[in-house]
Parts: sequence; structure tokens; C-alpha cells
Amino acid sequence: MQLSDRARNIAPFYVMEVAKAAAALGQKVAHTDSPMVFLNIGEPDFTAAPLVQEAAMRAIHDGNTQYTAATGLPMLRERISHWYASRFGIQVAPSRIVVTAGASAALHLACLALFGAGDEVLMPDPSYPCNRQFVTAAEATPVLLATTAAGRFQLTADQVQAAWGPHTRGVVLASPSNPTGTSVSPHELRRIHQVVQSRGGVTLVDEIYLPLSFDAEYGQSALSLDDSIISINSFSKYFNMTGWRLGWMVVPDTLVEVIERLAQNLFICPSTIAQHAALACFEEASLSLYEQRRAEFKARRDYFIPQLNELGLHVPVMPDGAFYAWADCTQACAKLGLKDSWEFAFDIMQRAHVAVTPGRDFGSAQTQQFVRFSTASSMEQLRTAVTRLRAVLL
Ligand SMILES: Cc1ncc(COP(=O)(O)O)c(C=O)c1O
Repeated sequence: MQLSDRARNIAPFYVMEVAKAAAALGQKVAHTDSPMVFLNIGEPDFTAAPLVQEAAMRAIHDGNTQYTAATGLPMLRERISHWYASRFGIQVAPSRIVVTAGASAALHLACLALFGAGDEVLMPDPSYPCNRQFVTAAEATPVLLATTAAGRFQLTADQVQAAWGPHTRGVVLASPSNPTGTSVSPHELRRIHQVVQSRGGVTLVDEIYLPLSFDAEYGQSALSLDDSIISINSFSKYFNMTGWRLGWMVVPDTLVEVIERLAQNLFICPSTIAQHAALACFEEASLSLYEQRRAEFKARRDYFIPQLNELGLHVPVMPDGAFYAWADCTQACAKLGLKDSWEFAFDIMQRAHVAVTPGRDFGSAQTQQFVRFSTASSMEQLRTAVTRLRAVLL
């Protein structure tokens, strides 16, 4: 059967090979004194708050399971709007909030609405691989621009200005970023957005990790800059609901109608049960639990990053959010006689039973030097990983 060009253009997820090998080895060593520590996982080790779980069960029990509006339950859009006011001090009208099946559906809808064949979209290298694929699925071309540690592994306005060509339609960035956990500075984002606006383009910021921000300097939503910015968000990470498939996007008033039309046709609506459950995310008890967990993620970062640096796995920029560390393994590769981060990932998986994600899928700029560690594992697991890595590397 002949595949579409669109399907052929979607790149494979190479890290799945590493993840599969880690899972297979993990099973073998599960009952030994050295079970696998999975630091390759990009999802919180916590589950939804108790009130959220109860609300989901209530929705099922009460039969609140019919389709909702394509843009989501009005009450949920209102609660998200209130949360922007209480958490970030910004006013976002509920009418601009569209609830989606995870950030993934929001990114898909935004790219389908805004980009098409022949268009180019600027993105940082390294960046979350799927964001490129949403652009590709819309038949546009992602243009990756190499970032530097000095620029927090984010785009700069000068780069955007220099790379903007006749077919460029916009910029897609994630702040904080996966795989680096670093955010674009508000000052630089303002400058980027000015360049984009002056060219009549679109600024789309994936803010799925923003609620897991540790640093007031970076913890502001791009929405505070301008209503024309598109912001993507999710219940997956901060609200610990990865498998529930719920997220949202905030779009300018002028885009709501087209996004709604696309969402109606492509998805009908996001999961009704997940939406009823998510209403309970904004109860005081849930929010305070999520804040405790955010503090735990910060404590893990504060422990783990200095340890990586001591091990010679240099983390050039301290992550200011999310649960990732982007570490340079050049020194470790030299010591162990390995070619690159891909080999390093397989090597430490075998020697130390620690699974990490090599840089390869995240782009091509220096990604053969870098690996991504996830700190979405307990402190105990992180300590175990450090002890084992020390035995191999020091
Ligand atoms: C930067 C980024 N954007 C989007 C997503 C997709 O999230 P969701 O589960 O909300 O679809 C992820 C998932 O890891 C991510 O890291």
C-alpha cells in the first residue's frame, strides 16, 4: 500500500529503541539487587490528586459521559481562566480557552489552522520532537535553529530575524523546554515576538511545563506579553494526568472559530470524563497537593544537577522548570571509550542499570554530545542512580 508523503515525512522516534532495550533489561534485572532505574521517562511519577480521581468516578457513576462542546465544558474553561488570574495574575477570557485532548491535540489543531504546504516554521534545536512532527503533519517544514547554552538553549530574536525568509510563517518554542528544562527569558521572548509580529507571523509557545516553574524570573506566561500569542498547556505534567489526555490552548479571539471548527470535525470533543475530573484540579486541596509536588520536583533538581556536574556529566544551564537535565556526556564518553551519547545511553544502561534518553531525537545541534536525564523519579531512585553512575564514571 502506498503511503502518503505526509506519513513518510514523519521521522521515527529513535529513542524508543533505547526505551525498549531498557524495559527488556529492566524485566531481567527486576528481582536482582540492582533493578533498573528509569531516568528516561518524561512523565511525573505522581498520579492525579484524590479529588480528581473521585470526580472521575462520580462522572462515570452519574452518567456524565456524553459529548461536550468541542471547545470543552464551559465550567472548565472558566476554572482555567480563574487559575491564570490566581496563579499568574493575568486575565484570560474563558472564550479564548479551548480544551483539547492533551497539549498534543492543541498543537495539532494550531498547526493545522495556521500552517500549510510550502510554509516554514522556526524552532529551537534541541526541542521536543513531536512539535516538529505537528508542523510536518500540516505539510509545512520545521526549520531547526541551533541554540547555545548562553541563550539557555532557546531561540534568540537575532536568530529569528536572520532566519526569517519569504516562506516563514512563525515560531514554535517550548518554555520551559523539553529536553533542557530551561525557559526563554521574558525579555528575549518579547523581542522574538516583536520580530515575528513585524513579519506578520505567529508566535506559539508550548507552556506545558510552565506550572512546574521553579524560578520567578522565568515563571511568567507568554500570554502576559500579548493576546496574539498562542499558548499551549496541559493537565499532563503539573496536574499529573498524562494518560487522561487533557490539555488546552489559549488563542486570540479571531482564531477561536476556526479552531472550534477543526476540533468539532477532527475530535468532536476531549474526553468528557477527564474534563469533569479536571474541574477538581482547581479545588484548594488539589492545588496545594500539586504545589507540594512542585516543591518535590525542585528538591530533586537541587539535589541531582550538582551531582551530575560532579560526575563530569556537565549540565551547562541549570533547569528553571520541568523535570529534565540536559547533560553533556563528552567527558564520560572519552573516559569509557564511547563514540557519542547514543552509545553512552546503551553503555550505562548495561553497566549501571540506569536508563537515560540520548539526544538524537531532539535535533542535530550537538545532540550526539547530550543526554536527557529525567528527574520524574523519587529521590531514592535518583540517589541510587548517582551511586551507580559514580561507580562507573569516577
Ligand atoms: C514540550 C512538550 N509538549 C507537548 C507534550 C505533549 O503533552 P500532552 O500529554 O499534553 O499531549 C510533551 C510531552 O512530553 C512535551 O514534552
